[in-house]
Amino acid sequence: VLVVRHRKRSAGRWARAAAVLEELEEQCATPTLKLREVADAMVKEMNAGLESEDGCKVKMIISFVDKLPTGAEKGLFYALDLGGTNFRVLRVQLGGKEGRVVKQEYEEVSIPQELMVGGSDELFDFIASALAKFVGSEGEIHGPAGKSRELGFTFSFPVKQTSIASGTLIKWTKGFDIAATIGEDVVAELTKSLKRQGLDMRVTALVNDTVGTLAGGIYDDSDVVVAVILGTGTNAAYIERIDAIKKWQGPIPNSGSMVINMEWGNFNSSNLPMTCYDQALDVESLNPGEQIFEKLISGMYLGEVVRRVLLRLAVEASLFGDSVPPQLEVPFALRTPIMSEMHHDTSADLKVVGAKLKEFLGISKTSLRTRKLIVQICDIVAKRGARLAAAGIFGILKKLGRHDAKRRTVIAMDGGLYEHYTSFRESLLSTLNEMLGDEAAASVQVILANDGSGIGAALLAASHS
Ligand code: GLC
Repeated sequence: VLVVRHRKRSAGRWARAAAVLEELEEQCATPTLKLREVADAMVKEMNAGLESEDGCKVKMIISFVDKLPTGAEKGLFYALDLGGTNFRVLRVQLGGKEGRVVKQEYEEVSIPQELMVGGSDELFDFIASALAKFVGSEGEIHGPAGKSRELGFTFSFPVKQTSIASGTLIKWTKGFDIAATIGEDVVAELTKSLKRQGLDMRVTALVNDTVGTLAGGIYDDSDVVVAVILGTGTNAAYIERIDAIKKWQGPIPNSGSMVINMEWGNFNSSNLPMTCYDQALDVESLNPGEQIFEKLISGMYLGEVVRRVLLRLAVEASLFGDSVPPQLEVPFALRTPIMSEMHHDTSADLKVVGAKLKEFLGISKTSLRTRKLIVQICDIVAKRGARLAAAGIFGILKKLGRHDAKRRTVIAMDGGLYEHYTSFRESLLSTLNEMLGDEAAASVQVILANDGSGIGAALLAASHS
């Protein structure tokens, strides 16, 4: 009798789990038709943002970068790259047309969590002191005596640029939350900290990581017109004709064009496939109502969406036994790199899934059926994000009239999500091809511009010094 009752209860649980999964699959669905609608909505937002920023979700920020690296850049330059969980300091020796990048050194430092939500001076002082140490460690390469060192500053948050080397912070994203910096010129903030460190350095370019990646990409391949970041956050930049930028009031640049930092992470549309998990994640986030596209796509959030689905299954379908595993209730306990490892588990008994559940969520015993279900959930959530990112890229190509053209078009990509999450990357690429069709897909190429944003900032510091 006991066994029968147990079986009955277990069947009930599985029926409940199947229903939750089915609902998730349905709500996350991204049929191509829907993706085309998303792309069209993106194009509409782009046009609106190019006219005026007021009330626009996609800000289409003017970067003041109207000339891109040519290869002739020469000299010793530094770059600072602040944008996610890590920040980097970089030293680049550029040798001009023949020499190109002669030498490059960098150091990576992780940002302590408390500095991401603390005081503004503390954050900038921390960065400046790491830079001071790095500059102090200067080996064989030295800059010209008597000249202050030139610095490209990659600052990967929404900044309203006021010139190539100044701009005020609009808001923080990606888990940073420091009220005192909002509305301040981040170059002035950094410069104050550099002074406090006794460092004689001058910021000659302030750039978003997408803009840096575009500059770094074009240095290697002159057909790069779009750069996309898929990492902790997500965003894109591209080269726009100056006459298409209605809000531009400055002089017409010689190049006739300007790089636009879209800040597409803040895109939103009624077409986006949202679930109750996304809604709850948003409401409980540091920036509710903001960065909705980013919350569906980027590395900071994918694992968290999966955690929320698992939590519901634990509560409603007792997926992990009679009690809910306490660690499963901790926000962000399941990071995207772990999700990726579970998703890519190829062992017959899914032992990687089992090991990760144990290590990160304190869940020790699961059936193969449960582990299979978890892989399926990872797949649904990752695929939705990848396909939406592809739709965004298709939107940009459409805006540029390159979605059905024969001209070679190169997209420079960077970010850990794209680089390391294989099935995300594959799904993105196949979706983009699917949207382009065979003929156009043949002329569109996606390249990994690894660490392009730091080099790009150094290159822009060189061309704007
Ligand atoms: C966030 C930032 C944006 C950045 C992107 C990728 O969306 O707001 O500026 O480019 O993350 O790092």
